[in-house]
Amino acid sequence: MTISDSGLPTLDAVADNSPQVTNEPPKQPNVHEQRWQSYLRDCSELINMVDPLEVAGRIVKVTGLVMVATGIKMPIGGACFIPLQDGGRVEAEVVGFDGENLLLMPQTALEGVTPGAKVFSMEIAETVPKPQIGRPPRRRAQDRARHFPVGDGLLGRVVDAAGNPLDGLGPIPGDVTAPLNGRVINPLQRAPIEDTLDVGVRAINAMLTVGRGQRMGLFAGSGVGKSVLLGMMARYTTADVIVVGLIGERGREVQEFIEQILGPEGLARSVVVAAPADVSALMRLQGASYATAIAERFRQQGKNVLLIMDSLTRYAMAQREIALAIGEPPATKGYPPSVFAKLPALVERTGNGARGEGSITAFYTVLTEGDDQQDPIADSARAILDGHIVLNRSLAESGHYPAIDIEQSISRAMHNITSKEHQQAARMLKQWYSRYLRNQDLIAVGAYQPGSDPMLDIAIRKRDDINAFLQQDIDECADMQHSLQQLANTLTL
Ligand SMILES: Nc1ncnc2c1ncn2[C@@H]1O[C@H](COP(=O)(O)OP(=O)(O)OP(=O)(O)O)[C@@H](O)[C@H]1O
Ligand SMILES: [Mg+2]
Repeated sequence: MTISDSGLPTLDAVADNSPQVTNEPPKQPNVHEQRWQSYLRDCSELINMVDPLEVAGRIVKVTGLVMVATGIKMPIGGACFIPLQDGGRVEAEVVGFDGENLLLMPQTALEGVTPGAKVFSMEIAETVPKPQIGRPPRRRAQDRARHFPVGDGLLGRVVDAAGNPLDGLGPIPGDVTAPLNGRVINPLQRAPIEDTLDVGVRAINAMLTVGRGQRMGLFAGSGVGKSVLLGMMARYTTADVIVVGLIGERGREVQEFIEQILGPEGLARSVVVAAPADVSALMRLQGASYATAIAERFRQQGKNVLLIMDSLTRYAMAQREIALAIGEPPATKGYPPSVFAKLPALVERTGNGARGEGSITAFYTVLTEGDDQQDPIADSARAILDGHIVLNRSLAESGHYPAIDIEQSISRAMHNITSKEHQQAARMLKQWYSRYLRNQDLIAVGAYQPGSDPMLDIAIRKRDDINAFLQQDIDECADMQHSLQQLANTLTL
């Protein structure tokens, strides 16, 4: 074989390698020859990838939240940016298209965008092949989209929906990144919910036992004690890592949640992603996906993660805002159909991983406006979650905290993960509690004759014990063993 001065094989040499028809037995493959061929293949691929043009589109229309760009082809979900004259830039995401035009939703305010402004794609280019090393396996479109920091470097940190630190503690250490949309787990490979999870709240541990990898909804109106209850679980749950997504809530609450409710001990093993109400709808959606992506990464490492999302309703509202802006017709109570597709897509990412991986136990708060349990988002959430804890306003108003309505709440995994005795005890307490509530008015006016209903007699006698059992102070931790012990004590006649 002839080799040129540059070290590359000459054309003669390549031509020499063409197989010749002979009667001899087939030759063993020549390793040297194969390496040269693959080298040449890589080189020609590299040349094919060179793109001499910088592709830019132009903004042709801005209405309300949506920009229309033309002259650039990008996939739905692709990220792009618009350079501004003052040196800044507006980042945006492709949320739809109309003929040749792309519909873009900005991540920040639109001030400074001019008619005809250029639009550039931010997609990570295909990895450039290095001759002789080969190409990485083919990747999904999502993997080529933007990546955000994940992993241990985030512990104890507070970041926004794009992974930028909000706590003033400098850049996030480490260089582990992941795309916003993780890989879907094959449902048959998911580990089932088998272990109980100690959340440190007596009423939940004993009456609504949560399993590792379960996804629960916390349904309540405003000001009934959702944040306080979530904070208690964040502090007391036996989890390796806690990921908190504060989506669409008041900005003031973010600091309050971190400083007062989570506290320094809670924050040390937590990651907080904050996308409060004043950021764009896109960032609120992204915040929820990002918090889930962070949790997914820890689950991959085999950790047991507690994911707290406050709130799922605000996530749905952000999707409604976007869908209506790009022209999707509203269907149920002003919510377009895409909202009801987005909710399960987000929720299904949490739960147990494949066998051998860790778990994500998730709590999503769901606002029930005016304590209306029939709200379409509440309805849809109840159907896709593995249980719901309902907080009751009248309990909260009477100073009964946490205001968990044990009659309306249910944990769908409890049956599989608790003992028969535990289930019987929980059922009995629930029966006594309900029996008392049903007859409360009769008892109050003195119309009930003791002795006519033996169970009601017990319920009346035990009322104070039951209420004391169900209530818990903000800074009191009740572990699983104590919770069960106290349940047994409460039932003792
Ligand atoms: N376990 C508790 N013990 C004593 N007080 C409590 C407890 N839980 C909640 N509260 C009281 O309820 C108030 C409201 O709670 P919280 O802020 O958690 O409500 P929220 O449902 O998150 O409200 P919002 O909808 O406004 O976010 C708290 O400020 C606190 O005074
Ligand atoms: Mg709150």
